[in-house]
Amino acid sequence: MILDKLSGAMFGVAVGDALGAPVEFMDKSEIRKKFGVLNEMVGGGWLNLSPGEVTDDTEMSICVAEGIIENCENPVPAIGHRFITWAQHTKDIGNTCSLSINRAKQAMRRQSDSNSEVGIWIRVAHETHQLLEIAGSGSAGNGGLMRTIYPALYYQEEKRAAEIAILQSQMTHYDAVSSQACSDYVRVIHRLLRGMSLLELRQFIEMHYPICLEQAFVNTSGYVLDTLHAAFNAVLTTDSFEKALIKAVNSGGDTDTVGAVTGGLAGAQYGYSNIPKRWLQALSPTIQSCLDRLVDEAHRNNDIK
Ligand code: AR6
Ligand code: MN
Repeated sequence: MILDKLSGAMFGVAVGDALGAPVEFMDKSEIRKKFGVLNEMVGGGWLNLSPGEVTDDTEMSICVAEGIIENCENPVPAIGHRFITWAQHTKDIGNTCSLSINRAKQAMRRQSDSNSEVGIWIRVAHETHQLLEIAGSGSAGNGGLMRTIYPALYYQEEKRAAEIAILQSQMTHYDAVSSQACSDYVRVIHRLLRGMSLLELRQFIEMHYPICLEQAFVNTSGYVLDTLHAAFNAVLTTDSFEKALIKAVNSGGDTDTVGAVTGGLAGAQYGYSNIPKRWLQALSPTIQSCLDRLVDEAHRNNDIK
């Protein structure tokens, strides 16, 4: 039971990312014109993807997961090394992620003590935040949220899961809104894995994010709160993994990230066994076995049945 939900959450992120990425930046009507309803792994898009290919949302989630497995007490240095290596060869990276990772890489060259790496990441992300504030754009993009599923899967204690979710977000996005979104997302996933019902999820959302239930206020920009709202809305207004994901990616905008965040939620709710097989099979064998291993590690670290 728990294994099905853990796998559902982890694979849900990848499936949502791969389903949405080919239509990233298209609006709702463009998607409708081109695909009718997008419900298959089509590939293509501005990144020229193969069908089922994942993007930075999944790749950064893997960096976070592997860093946590390497050192769950103090994962920042291990996550950070992976971010830096990954950023050298990725097809796509968000602006705030890119600024913070590049600056941390430079700062790291001047510093060899791994204990101070946590300090370097937080300091650099703070500088990025200030730079972006001055530029008028802000550092509340969804880059911290899109990769934050794994703390919910790995840590047994909800409070610890939320702390690590915030910490990994602060490595690039030193922003209170991003931190709050990551914490709430991970807390909700943690509870869904342990049997929270959709009714209880609705009550949580009515209390903390009532705007999500108003369709007219749901946006699909890359702003972290818009993404969280869109994902909550997609899960609360549908009754299956497949329908939630189709709703998420057919609304246009930042479709891969809304897809990934929705996929984590819907996967934790409905489980791996309810993710359409055609979507799972489209993921590359390398990604599938990598995600399987991450799920096994999380399972081993939990004693929930
Ligand atoms: N208010 C409103 N919008 C904001 C704010 C704010 N305070 N701060 C940022 N944005 P970006 P990331 C918008 O590019 O978070 C991948 O490709 C900002 O204007 O810094 O590093 C994923 O698929 C921009 O439009 O990205 C994601 O799309 C948006 O938030 C992305 O990168 C994303 O900010 C996430 O990485
Ligand atoms: Mn995106």
